[in-house]
Amino acid sequence: MPVTVVDHPLSRHYLTILRDRTTATPLFRETARRLAYLLVAEATSDIPEIEKPIETPLEPTTGTALGRPIVVVAVFRAGLGLIDAALDLIPDARIGYAGVQRNEETAEPMEYYTKFPPMGDARVLILEPMLATGGSLAWACDQVKANGATDVTAVCVVSAPAGLKVMEERHPEVRVVTAALDRSLSDAFYIQPGLGDMGDRLFGTA
Ligand code: URA
Repeated sequence: MPVTVVDHPLSRHYLTILRDRTTATPLFRETARRLAYLLVAEATSDIPEIEKPIETPLEPTTGTALGRPIVVVAVFRAGLGLIDAALDLIPDARIGYAGVQRNEETAEPMEYYTKFPPMGDARVLILEPMLATGGSLAWACDQVKANGATDVTAVCVVSAPAGLKVMEERHPEVRVVTAALDRSLSDAFYIQPGLGDMGDRLFGTA
C-alpha cells in the first residue's frame, strides 16, 4: 500500500501545534486547516493533467487543467476540520459525507449517515485525520467503492501502525497521505503520542 509522509518543515511545524495540549480550539482549528492544504496538495500531486490552450494578454500558450474530477469525502466528525482547505484548493470538488462513530468499548465503527455524489471517474479524497485502528477509514473505503469509486486516496493527519495494517489488508491499493507515522495505540485506542481526540479539539467538546 502506498504511504506518503509529507516531508515539509511547515507540515512538522503545524503538527507540533496540533499535538501541543496547550493549543486552544481556535488555533487548533486554524492550524488543522493550514496543515490540510499541504496534505491535499500532496494527495493530488499525481492527478492526471490535460493540456488547455489559452491566450495570455500577450499571446496564445498552452496551460493545463485537472484531468479528473475530484470528490472529497469527510468522515465525521474530525474530517470536517480538513474540508474547508480542500475546497479552497479545489472549488469544483463535489462533497460526500461518511458518518461513523466509534464504539468506545470496541473501537468498531458504527455507521449513522452517508451521502455521496457520483464518483465513478473521480479521484476520491477521504478525509480521515486520525488513522488509529483503521476501522473507520476501511469502512469509508468500502462505502465509496460500493458507490463506484476506483481511485481513492486517504488524507490523514496522524497514522498508527495498527491502522496502516488494516488498510494494507482491506484496501491495499488505496494511497495514504499523512503528516506523521506515530508509535502505537493506547488501551483506549488513541494514537500515541498523537494529539488527543481530534473532534473534541476541533469543536471544543472535551
Ligand atoms: N480519534 C482521535 O480523534 N484521536 C485518536 O487518537 C484516535 C482516534
